[in-house]
Amino acid sequence: MKPIFNENLLISLKTKIFVKKQVMNNLNVYLEKFKNKKTLVILDEYLKNNQKKRTYINKSLKFIKNKKIIINSFYEPTFLDLEKIIKSIKGTKFELIIGIGGGSTIDVAKGLSVSINYKKNIRNLQGIDKFNHDSIPVVAIPSIFGSGAEITPSAVFINEKTKIKGGINSEKVQPKYAFLDPYLAKSKNLRQHATCAFDALVHSLESYESNISNNFTKSFALNGSIKVISGLKLLNKNELEALTLIAEGSIYSIISLMHSEQSLAGAASYPLAAYYGYNHALCGANFIDKSLKFFNIKNKKYLNDVIYKLYDLGIIKNRNIKSLIDELKMIKNEYMIENIMLKKSDITFLANQIIKMPMIKHTPIKINKNDILQFLNYV
Ligand SMILES: [Fe+2]
Repeated sequence: MKPIFNENLLISLKTKIFVKKQVMNNLNVYLEKFKNKKTLVILDEYLKNNQKKRTYINKSLKFIKNKKIIINSFYEPTFLDLEKIIKSIKGTKFELIIGIGGGSTIDVAKGLSVSINYKKNIRNLQGIDKFNHDSIPVVAIPSIFGSGAEITPSAVFINEKTKIKGGINSEKVQPKYAFLDPYLAKSKNLRQHATCAFDALVHSLESYESNISNNFTKSFALNGSIKVISGLKLLNKNELEALTLIAEGSIYSIISLMHSEQSLAGAASYPLAAYYGYNHALCGANFIDKSLKFFNIKNKKYLNDVIYKLYDLGIIKNRNIKSLIDELKMIKNEYMIENIMLKKSDITFLANQIIKMPMIKHTPIKINKNDILQFLNYV
């Protein structure tokens, strides 16, 4: 929930959050009260095919006696995909849903929590607070960190008829528990981890200076950016420690974002995903440095507190925004994160879309279309 009347402090959190290496070994303790509940487990296909991870997951869920495990192979799921899953479980009354995997699997778990028992067209659920019925409690266990989907009140689906990609937005889809286990997330694909971490960095760096930020969001955004950048720098040296930092940092970052707002990089990623099919996190990785440069030109004090702290901790080499931008560029080169190249006509089209995004109202300075063109044209 974002501030509405300039409250000095407003905190709204529903999810109990746990971050720890091998935290899944203790699920029997944290989720003790659910041990006899009829449980639906949605498991990412990628995890199903990894024997070591599958064994680890099976062991950690052994305490739940009455459970059905289904595999999610849908990436960027549609409502039709969700209907197929609902059909496959044939009206069973579940009392708990556990989603384990990437963003799409977490979205499916959150979506099922309100659609399994919904008798009408589930496409009606898309939008803000479109229903009143109770949801099934959700436990989210992400296998990659950055988006914060494991704690947000939104489950994203594509309406295959209208082509609209949008959330079922309601506190009712917000998970009750989130377990971030760096041991589960370990993978050979460090590039994917690095890209997703940039999503978190957009959440923290941009929400820090939003015009609705406050001391609470700033302290979380600051912690988020420190942890995420530290994790990114450590990723190819000590993956487990690095993922722990990124997991923690992504939680700080999303909590800041949920109570404040992102700006240009965050806004750009929505039309780039909707009209050009680019991955949300990849957009963040491509546009965060342009956003930093843009706001720094407009206001030399932009993000000073964060930059000074990063410098004091030895995370960046110099006490200026250029040093932060250079550090981020180095990380992107190291992990070969691809560059999004825009044509002139795309830039004009995108600027027209970005200016309409709701977060543009909350940027640190007032933004017009020319500003957005300037931001998109940076190299
Ligand atoms: Fe994001």
